[in-house]
Amino acid sequence: MPVISFANSKGGSGKTTSALLLACELAQYKDTTLIDADPRRPITEWYKIKGGPDRLKVVTNSDENTILDEIEQASAESSFVIVDLEGVASRLTSYAISMSDLVIIPMKEQQQDAWAAMDVIKQIKMESRARRTMIPFSILFTQTRVVAKSRTARHIAEQFRATKTIPCLQAEINDRDAFSALFNIGGTIHDLKTSDVNNITAAKENANVYAEEVVRILRESKKTKEAA
Ligand SMILES: Nc1ncnc2c1ncn2[C@@H]1O[C@H](COP(=O)(O)OP(=O)(O)OP(=O)(O)O)[C@@H](O)[C@H]1O
Ligand SMILES: [Mg+2]
Repeated sequence: MPVISFANSKGGSGKTTSALLLACELAQYKDTTLIDADPRRPITEWYKIKGGPDRLKVVTNSDENTILDEIEQASAESSFVIVDLEGVASRLTSYAISMSDLVIIPMKEQQQDAWAAMDVIKQIKMESRARRTMIPFSILFTQTRVVAKSRTARHIAEQFRATKTIPCLQAEINDRDAFSALFNIGGTIHDLKTSDVNNITAAKENANVYAEEVVRILRESKKTKEAA
């Protein structure tokens, strides 16, 4: 059903981490497919460690020639389809964006991530024109500091949030041990133990608030589409 892609041509902006967190949250209640289209295959490697929630299916993308079929098949099978894209602008990225009901653009509160995010927005607008329909998108600030944000970080986030034409998720993904540990320990944040990492409760709360907001956005954009 709804297809949510994670795109930003800036490497390390948090695409894979935010895609995995969302997929695991949604898979607590609904059948969810997570398509691993990151050439380093981090989600596929993560899944090999401990598997994942019962309702989560991981599909490893082959190449740009198969992504449309993979998304179509996953949409027919699952309540949610999440696509983790590679950190470069490519034909594969364009195909996935053109099939998306929502493109999430993860970015750190840093200038280079901001420039790359603006490039992705341009790409989404081009895809929207080609498809003759608006493809909704939203910025997601990632790896944000909970306390003592730098002045630069605050300034960049404020500039984006003040720009009416650039939707930004209220929720941020904080910089947390629990989130990076998943790729080492495997499983979801709900499987982590207090002996594994600090402050699991805050990490769970963060992931939950983020996933709820994404579901709300999808619901609202479906209503808008139906009313049009
Ligand atoms: N919220 C977070 N808290 C802690 N560490 C994080 C967080 N988000 C990302 N990281 C770490 O930062 C690095 C890059 O993150 P990630 O792989 O999610 O980015 P990416 O955009 O998918 O990168 P690429 O463009 O290479 O695919 C990883 O080592 C990851 O563990
Ligand atoms: Mg990645």
